[in-house]
Amino acid sequence: MCGIFAAITQRNIMNILIDGIKKLEYRGYDSSGLAIIDHDNNMVRIRCIGKVDELIRKIQKKKILGHIGVAHTRWATHGKISKANTHPHVSKNIIVVHNGTIENYSVLRIFLQKKGYIFYSDTDTEAIAHLLHWEQNKKKESIEQVIQNSIKQLYGNYSMVVIDKNNPTRLIAARSGSPLVIGLGIEENFIASDQIALLNLTKRFIYLEEGDIAIIKKKEINIFNKKNFKIKRKETISNIKYKSIKKGKYSYYMEKEIYEQPASIRNTLKNRVQKNNTIYFSELQFKKKNLLYYAEHIQMVACGTSYHAAMVSRYWFEAFAKIPCDVEIASEFSSRKIAIRKKSFLITLSQSGETADTLSALRYSKKFGYLGNLTICNMEGSSLVKESDSYILTRAGIEIGVASTKSFTTQLTVLLMLVAQIAHFKKENKIAEKIIETLHILPQRIEEVLKKNELIKNIAKKLSNKKNILFLGRGEQYPIAMEGALKLKEISYIHAEAYAAGELKHGPLALIDKNIPVIIIAPKNSLLEKIKKNIKEIYSREGVIYIFSDQEFNVEKNIHLVKLPYIEELIAPIFYIVPLQLLAYYIALNKGKNIDQPRHLAKSVTVE
Ligand code: AGP
Repeated sequence: MCGIFAAITQRNIMNILIDGIKKLEYRGYDSSGLAIIDHDNNMVRIRCIGKVDELIRKIQKKKILGHIGVAHTRWATHGKISKANTHPHVSKNIIVVHNGTIENYSVLRIFLQKKGYIFYSDTDTEAIAHLLHWEQNKKKESIEQVIQNSIKQLYGNYSMVVIDKNNPTRLIAARSGSPLVIGLGIEENFIASDQIALLNLTKRFIYLEEGDIAIIKKKEINIFNKKNFKIKRKETISNIKYKSIKKGKYSYYMEKEIYEQPASIRNTLKNRVQKNNTIYFSELQFKKKNLLYYAEHIQMVACGTSYHAAMVSRYWFEAFAKIPCDVEIASEFSSRKIAIRKKSFLITLSQSGETADTLSALRYSKKFGYLGNLTICNMEGSSLVKESDSYILTRAGIEIGVASTKSFTTQLTVLLMLVAQIAHFKKENKIAEKIIETLHILPQRIEEVLKKNELIKNIAKKLSNKKNILFLGRGEQYPIAMEGALKLKEISYIHAEAYAAGELKHGPLALIDKNIPVIIIAPKNSLLEKIKKNIKEIYSREGVIYIFSDQEFNVEKNIHLVKLPYIEELIAPIFYIVPLQLLAYYIALNKGKNIDQPRHLAKSVTVE
C-alpha cells in the first residue's frame, strides 16, 4: 500500500520520477506528490489529491531541473485524503516518503510538539520527518547515522526514503515491513516499492532485506543490516520484459490479465510434470525432509481472492490427497488463540507476498509448532517467500489490475498439482495421474470459455443496473461463487453476496424477489440434482435466475441459461471463475468504473 519511488540521476529527474510513480499507482491512488532538490538547492514540492495524472497536470506548467528526488502515491491510513496529508513530508531540511504505519506515532507527536515542532498534517510520516530533524540537530550527525539511531524509536511497519537537503548527494532508504528494491543504473540509481516501476530503467536489482538501511549515491551504494554491519546484498537480473507490463491492445489491465490466463497457466505447468507423470517443483526445497508429505493436517491461511483459492483446495486436499484441511482468513487466524491440530502443516497463499495480514499470520504461526510452512506466491523476492520455510511460485506474471484474476487461476493450478504430488506420495496413484492428465487440458479449456465473451457481455447488459446480486454454488463451486461476488463488488460497487446453495433456505431465501438476480454455478457433477432443487425453490418465489452451466436446462421466463463449453469435473472450479471474471469486468465497464483502480482499494495491502 502506497508506492515509493526515488532516484538520484545524471539526467533531469522529473520525467523519471513521474513515470516511476505512475507505474506504482496500483498500490494506492488517493493522492500523490513529489519533491526535488533543484539546481539552486531549493526543495520543490508538488502534491495533490487524486490520481497521478492530476500531479502530471500540475507539473506540466512548471520547468524544474534537478537530479535527486522522491515521489509517493498514497493509500490513506493516518489522516484523511487531503493535500496536507500527501507525501513527501518535510521537516526543514529533511524530506521523507513512507509506506506503512508507525504505531507509536501519537507518543512521538506529543514529544515532538513539546520540542516546538508544528505538525501540518495528521500523518505518522510527519512525525518521522520531525524526529529525524530533532535527532540530527541534537547530535550534529550525518543523516545516515541519524536514521540508524532513530529508527529504534519507530514501532510498526515501514519503508521510507529520505533526502537531506543540506547534503543532496544521496538517498537514504530504510526497510522494515514493507518492500523496497534498488534499481542499478549507469552512474545513477533508483529505488522503489516494486521493480515494476524500474523495469524501463534497468534490469539489475537489489532487494533490501528486513532492517536494512541503504545509502544510495550516483556511483555507489552502501547497505547496512539491522545490526549496523555493512553488508553486500545479492544483485539479481530480472528477466521480466518491460513490454509485459504494458496494456497493449486491451483497455484495462484486468481485461488483459483475464485473457492472459491460458498462457499463465501453461507457464505454471511448464517443466513441472516429470516423464513418469509425477509433479516436481524445482524451487520447493525443504530444510529438513519434506514434512508436508508426513503432515496429518493442513492449515491454510490467506486473504481475499487467495483465501478463496485456499477454500477450493480444501475440497481437493480432503477428497484426493485424503488429508484433513482447514482454511482461515489471515487476520482472524492471527487474532485468536490457536489449538493446533496434531502434525499440522501451514500453507499461506498470496499473489503479492506482501499482504500484512498473511505475513503476521505466518509470523504468529511460528509460536505453535507447525511441522513446517510453505507459501504459494507469485512474487519471488517477496517477504512471504523470504520468511517461509519453503515456497512454490505461481508464475502468473506481473498482475497490475487491483482485482486478482490470473493470480487466482494459477494459484488453483499450483494447488491441484500439489494435491496430485501428495496423492502420489500416499499411493493414490490413480487420482494423481488423472489430475495431471486433466491439468494438461486446462489452458485449452480456458481458451474455449474466453470465446464466450459476447454471451457474457449480453448478460452483463441485463445486470448492470442492478443494486444487489446473489451468487450460489455447491461444493468446490461455493468458493467460486464467493470469488465471483468479490470480483463484482470490488470493481462495479454492486452489492454481491455468495452463499452455499444449500444454505439458501436457512435465511437468504427471504431476499428473493424479481429485483435480485441470482447467479447459479451449475456444472455437471454429483451435486447437479441438488442445485436443480435450489433453482426450483428460487423460481417458485419469482426469483430471476442466471444459470452458468455446460448442461441443458428448461429455459422459462425468469430463467436464463448461460451455456458454457464442456469441462472436466476435476478442473471445473478453475474454469467457472473465468466467465464470472468477465461478467464483473463487463458490468463495471458498462457502469464506467475505473476497473484497474477501484475506489478505496490498493493492489497489495501492506497494512493490518
Ligand atoms: C481481490 O481481487 C483482491 N484484490 C484482494 O482480495 C487480494 O486477493 C487480497 O488482498 C490478498 O492479496 P495477496 O494475494 O497479494 O495476498
